[in-house]
Amino acid sequence: MASTVLVGTQWGDEGKGKICDLIASEFDAVVRYQGGNNAGHTIVVDDKKYGLHQVPSGIMYPDCLSVIGNGCVVNPAVLLEEIDMFERDGISTANLKVSGNAHVIMPYHMALDGAFEARLGTAHIGTTKRGIGPCYQHKMERIGLRMQDLLDEAVFREKLERALAKVNPELEFIYQLPTYTVDEICASYLPMAERLRPYICEAGILLNELVAAGKSILFEGAQATLLDIDHGTYPFVTSSNCTAGGAVTGSGVGMKHIDRVLGIMKAYITRVGSGPMPTELAYESEAGHTLTEVGAEYGVTTGRRRRCGWFDGVIARYAAQVNGLTDIALTKLDVLSVFDTIKVCTAYDCNGVRYTSLPEHQASFAAAVPVYTELPGWNCDISQCKTFEELPQAAQDYVHFIEELTNTQISFVAVGPEREQTIVRSWAYQ
Ligand code: GDP
Ligand code: IMO
Ligand code: MG
Repeated sequence: MASTVLVGTQWGDEGKGKICDLIASEFDAVVRYQGGNNAGHTIVVDDKKYGLHQVPSGIMYPDCLSVIGNGCVVNPAVLLEEIDMFERDGISTANLKVSGNAHVIMPYHMALDGAFEARLGTAHIGTTKRGIGPCYQHKMERIGLRMQDLLDEAVFREKLERALAKVNPELEFIYQLPTYTVDEICASYLPMAERLRPYICEAGILLNELVAAGKSILFEGAQATLLDIDHGTYPFVTSSNCTAGGAVTGSGVGMKHIDRVLGIMKAYITRVGSGPMPTELAYESEAGHTLTEVGAEYGVTTGRRRRCGWFDGVIARYAAQVNGLTDIALTKLDVLSVFDTIKVCTAYDCNGVRYTSLPEHQASFAAAVPVYTELPGWNCDISQCKTFEELPQAAQDYVHFIEELTNTQISFVAVGPEREQTIVRSWAYQ
């Protein structure tokens, strides 16, 4: 069966966890390919809600392998907390694997993340302060520690010493923060390493063996297209490649094995942290307040209130292009049920220039004023609809409008947080 990349198409929190959990049972493995515990993916099963940060959203299925790929960064303490949470609830983690090449988030990464954000002042990124940026920075500088290093104390100590030789002066002299010793980090990390030992493996080899045996893989993206380090709204982005291409580098599986790219797209848009967002509505405005509260738009990881706005068709088209989307899952359509009319942005005016594609230059994007098309609302509860035909005509028209904007088929329409609250239209594997 075919393998699929599942990718966020906006600024995150589109409902990736929900859709991943919905379709994971159709695959032999689910692989996270980038990001770390900055992610917060929600799964709701039988009224029970799980917020996942590190563990792939296929974990609910005992026959599905859950892999944290080499492109990820891992906070061992958070991973162990998640493992314990699942085991307590009777959900086995026997099928969880962590790539030995994934990088380890260290205490000084979190300290540096917070310190640099403070130093930026009003120009701060609004990071999750989980140490993600500094961990990827050290990966690129080639002074990072990897999960495999946790397995050999001598190696861990040697590499840690080298890293601290660079990090401690930075902490002390640039940020006036406490420094770290090899011994204190070893004291907290090595016991965790012993617990994680059974999970750490050569994930690239494992995944390629699966592919060779004709098995299928679902690649679960974290964050989203506009937060991608290359293709997002730099510098207000995360520090990894969240777009579909990251699935290849972040897992070790060749691109010829990937058949479909499923973009997760919220029926409106949200953003956490700083940076431009053309369709943003003030929380104080009626529509802004309604989207936030009806959509329950508060972060899974940091609890921050998400900035909300109308659907941005320019971004949607861009995401379809940069990820090569074959399918879209449109989520949270039910949240729009309260509106009499619904706006969709179809273009930007940037300093007198009309853009229907995403402006590449930051100054133009920051100046973008949305050009809206107004569509009629449907004003009724759609959360129990099971088929596309059951949706009111105005809701169907909204879905068709987005299909035309993106030139991509909408294969799923989600009308509530539960697994079952999803209309499956044209998914390839049905
Ligand atoms: P992710 O980071 O992309 O996995 O998304 P989050 O879990 O951070 O945020 C999505 C939120 O919307 C979660 O609380 C989900 O339970 C919820 N959700 C997902 N799909 C739907 C939907 O179709 N309707 C409603 N009302 N909520 C949804
Ligand atoms: P999921 O996977 C929404 C945002 C942060 C900040 C920027 C950089 O749940 O969709 P970082 O800590 O990564 O260096 O922060 O990226 N951000 C997210 N926003 N959803 C996420 O993950 C995010 N992960 C990071 O708010 O603006
Ligand atoms: Mg999230």
